Amino acid sequence: MNYNVSEKFKNLKPSAIREIFKSLGAPGSISFAAGNPNPDSFPVKEMKEIADEIFEKEPVTALQYGITEGYTPLRELVKARLKRVYGIGEPDDDLIIVTGGQQGIELTCKVMCNEGDVVLCENPSFIGALNAFRSLGAKLIGVPLNDCGIDVNELEKALKENKNVKLLYTIPTFQNPAGITTDLETRKKVLELAEKYDILILEDNPYGDLRFSGEDVPTYKSMDKTGRVLYCGSFSKVLSAGMRIGFLCANKDIVSKIVVAKQVEDVHTNVLFQMICAKYIEKYDLEQHITEIRELYKKKAGLMIKALEENMPKTVSFTRPEGGIFLWCSLPEGLELSEFVKRAGDKNVFVVPGTAFAADPEAPCRSFRLNYSMPSDEEIVKGIRILADIAREMGA
Ligand SMILES: Cc1ncc(COP(=O)(O)O)c(C=O)c1O
Repeated sequence: MNYNVSEKFKNLKPSAIREIFKSLGAPGSISFAAGNPNPDSFPVKEMKEIADEIFEKEPVTALQYGITEGYTPLRELVKARLKRVYGIGEPDDDLIIVTGGQQGIELTCKVMCNEGDVVLCENPSFIGALNAFRSLGAKLIGVPLNDCGIDVNELEKALKENKNVKLLYTIPTFQNPAGITTDLETRKKVLELAEKYDILILEDNPYGDLRFSGEDVPTYKSMDKTGRVLYCGSFSKVLSAGMRIGFLCANKDIVSKIVVAKQVEDVHTNVLFQMICAKYIEKYDLEQHITEIRELYKKKAGLMIKALEENMPKTVSFTRPEGGIFLWCSLPEGLELSEFVKRAGDKNVFVVPGTAFAADPEAPCRSFRLNYSMPSDEEIVKGIRILADIAREMGA
């Protein structure tokens, strides 16, 4: 039978990263392609204990329908932590638990944007968000990044040139894929521009807790005086990605609409995992756990940067993240990215080409993303040497 897929989904391509996963697993292969947290960061023993206790003492709560806004104790704990750690939460804000930050992003666009509205995003940006915006018929326009974060001159140009901009989607801290953090001065200018052109900001911060060097920068949400910032966070990178627990904090009028939209999608987020998450925060030391993850990633990022410095030809540039799990590598002019990625794959080293993260996937690109949270120390050293040899062979 000939299936007539909807117009919206006809042109959506599968995530390049998920496709790369299919080629992984060959013995000796080294992947810098994943976006996964290191499995050592999962508190397995503690979660098992909590799950046993839940099934013993509160099985019905765990197995029954829950409320759409989320499991109340978890909502309260997340609100308190957001206030304490990030200064987030105004009296007219509310918070909903969502099924991963991914759902928070998609629901925001679904509730706030009409088809054809412009969504501005950093270029490059998180592929899951870009595909969510595309699937909802938003027009995506990328704004380049520089060393300070999003390029405010280019942002203003995009705001001037496009009349129906609704939303700026930004990952200001340890950006995926570039590993860049937007500095305070830039954040202040971005907020001014958002006010001047009357747009919303969706601040996506799943990596914010994973700083291993430098100083914290205030979130957009904590500096927002006009209720235009929606803040999306997640437990994926600090407790478990498979648990699928994220949260969205925004003005209560927006959250009440997002609640309705979520009822159409999945009614509510998995109650058992919301309970496990809440009880973990109540019973154990989440901050200490996060400190340990930071130490692990500091070591891995340091190792990767050292390997790049020692091995890569000087014409290959790369970012030096202060946290998170990615860095961004750029080949010199004249080198073909697709050829580089292919040669790497032939040698069983996998990276994600920058085209996967572009607002316009047809635009020329010479960059690729490297993940350091998943590979072992030996794989980091060996894999970067292989990539450096390929770059040199190709004339870098
Ligand atoms: C920038 C960014 N936002 C959101 C997400 C979604 O995370 P989750 O849905 O697991 O919370 C990810 C996942 O990798 C991400 O990199």
